[in-house]
Amino acid sequence: MYEWIKALHVVAVIAWMAGMLYLPRLFVYHCEAEAGSKQSETFKVMERRLLKAIINPAMIVTWLAGLYLAWSGHWLSAGWLHGKILLVLVLSGVHGFFSRLVKDFGADRNSRSQKFYRIINEVPTVLMIGIVVLVVVKPI
Ligand code: HEM
Repeated sequence: MYEWIKALHVVAVIAWMAGMLYLPRLFVYHCEAEAGSKQSETFKVMERRLLKAIINPAMIVTWLAGLYLAWSGHWLSAGWLHGKILLVLVLSGVHGFFSRLVKDFGADRNSRSQKFYRIINEVPTVLMIGIVVLVVVKPI
């Protein structure tokens, strides 16, 4: 059972990360489009669907399967897991921030520059590298 749940966990992680890497890229292009234009309306639909259909459910499955693995694998006192959970909490916070940005763009209320979106675009990548090293190498 453990291995099957791990497979589910990794599939959910891939879907979550795919969305978390792509959504800020959409923001980079969206902030260049004029509010009310056809292009801007298309970006709104893409962002909303990506968030609701992929990113949100994938995050829930990642968390549920990850917590099951932590409990059933007796990892709860492992240092690497504590570090990993800390980074995943930060990633979940970034996820929450992205969903606020989707709402702001949806209401034509974006106030941030393209440079800002280019920078936050890198945050999920950096967190993902740390998370994967912790769980695979288990250095602590
Ligand atoms: C708080 C949520 C999470 C918890 C509690 C959790 C916990 C775990 C546990 C206990 C394992 C099994 C480790 C083993 O059998 O050696 C695992 C595997 C894994 N997790 Fe997570 N995880 C979470 C979120 C994530 C995230 C966000 C990522 C990637 C960005 C991730 C990537 C992986 C990978 C790649 C594996 C497979 C490692 C291997 O088989 O060597 N996990 N996770």
